[in-house]
Amino acid sequence: MKLLDKIGREFSGYNFVESGKRLFDRKPLQCSLYVTDRCNLDCAYCTEYDNSRPHPSLDDLKKWIRKIRELGTMRIALVGGEPLVHPNIVEVVRYCRELGFATSLTTNGFLLTRKLVAELEDAGLQVMQISVDRMTPSPITKKSFKTILPKLDYFDNSKISLHITGVICADTLPESRAVLETGLSRGIPTEVRLVHADPLNRFRVDRGPREELERFIDSMIERKRRGEKIHTSEAILNYQRSLLRGEHVEWTCVAGYKLFFVSAQGKFWICSMVHTDKHIMDVTLDDLYANYHKKSCQEGCGVYCAVSASLLVEKPVRVLGKEILARTKRVPSMFRTSSRPRTDDPKPRRITNPDGTHEMNGSANGSPSADDRVTLRESV
Ligand SMILES: C[S@@+](CC[C@H](N)C(=O)[O-])C[C@H]1O[C@@H](n2cnc3c(N)ncnc32)[C@H](O)[C@@H]1O
Ligand code: SF4
Ligand code: SF4
Repeated sequence: MKLLDKIGREFSGYNFVESGKRLFDRKPLQCSLYVTDRCNLDCAYCTEYDNSRPHPSLDDLKKWIRKIRELGTMRIALVGGEPLVHPNIVEVVRYCRELGFATSLTTNGFLLTRKLVAELEDAGLQVMQISVDRMTPSPITKKSFKTILPKLDYFDNSKISLHITGVICADTLPESRAVLETGLSRGIPTEVRLVHADPLNRFRVDRGPREELERFIDSMIERKRRGEKIHTSEAILNYQRSLLRGEHVEWTCVAGYKLFFVSAQGKFWICSMVHTDKHIMDVTLDDLYANYHKKSCQEGCGVYCAVSASLLVEKPVRVLGKEILARTKRVPSMFRTSSRPRTDDPKPRRITNPDGTHEMNGSANGSPSADDRVTLRESV
């Protein structure tokens, strides 16, 4: 990728002009649409899949997507369940782009093939989040680099902007650092984030030891400040540290207003945790605005996309300023890597050494190319 393209991509993150409009008007910034409840995996921390439900039809999805756009929503995040198990996922992406949405998709990556990546790119997909929790699978989560590393090559000349996100809990913590190193060493923006709070005890996982988690979050804050490609804002890292310390954070949740969710049955949800029975087809801008208030569930909230949007709406200059600064620090390293040939380490190495420890993987040249226009921020 050309140096200027690389620099352009570093600053495309917030799509400043369009996002700016949404900070000052009453229209929504982002909708997360569950394109299906069905999933090919069964992560122990997840409450967002249900294989007893059929896929929504393409016609229904299109109707809901039109309505979401009519509300003025700028970005759509295609989530699930596992979006790639929906038989019409490519058409869904194409339709979102035809309507002018900035479009992202979050996937466990298991069903990705070279052909599917090319089809999604052709349909206009701009951003893909692949979820990777560990280096090797465990009974808690199968989402590991063992499956994903061989697929990263599919993105070598793709316009899709790829990033990697992992969940930290007691099971994944011993490998979270290696997940982060592996993603970053390939030039892929990567983040690992705390498992959501679990007030209803629905998860089958422990969160992990507080001090160790805090040290890890602190190290990510440091790296973010140094300009490494930690794929989340410093504000969200600070927020996670406050969660661990049990510190109160002052914020106003904009879920249900600036961002909202639509279920795979077309229901309007405030966020992934707070559901309503109202159908998206019946929702008005006034309904959305009525959700602009502090919520009783804010304390300990782990819906990071909602926290992120809320902090952005509340303190746009501070949040954006820090992000721009962090990305500016990445520019010198682009000069260093831009002159290196792509071929110095094109194939993934083994991810586990014979002694069972994990090595850092791959070259700094593995960064996928990306569309310069829009990058969506946090996903669920
Ligand atoms: C519900 S999944 C749906 C998309 C896809 N199946 C996947 O796993 O990427 C969306 C994202 O939520 C994350 N997630 C699910 N349950 C979570 C939890 N309890 N805490 C934090 N993140 C969670 C997943 O790891 C994934 O990155
Ligand atoms: S996190 Fe994603 S892959 Fe895991 S069970 Fe939930 S929906 Fe499926
Ligand atoms: S505070 Fe968190 S859980 Fe409550 S509505 Fe907002 S995003 Fe959802």
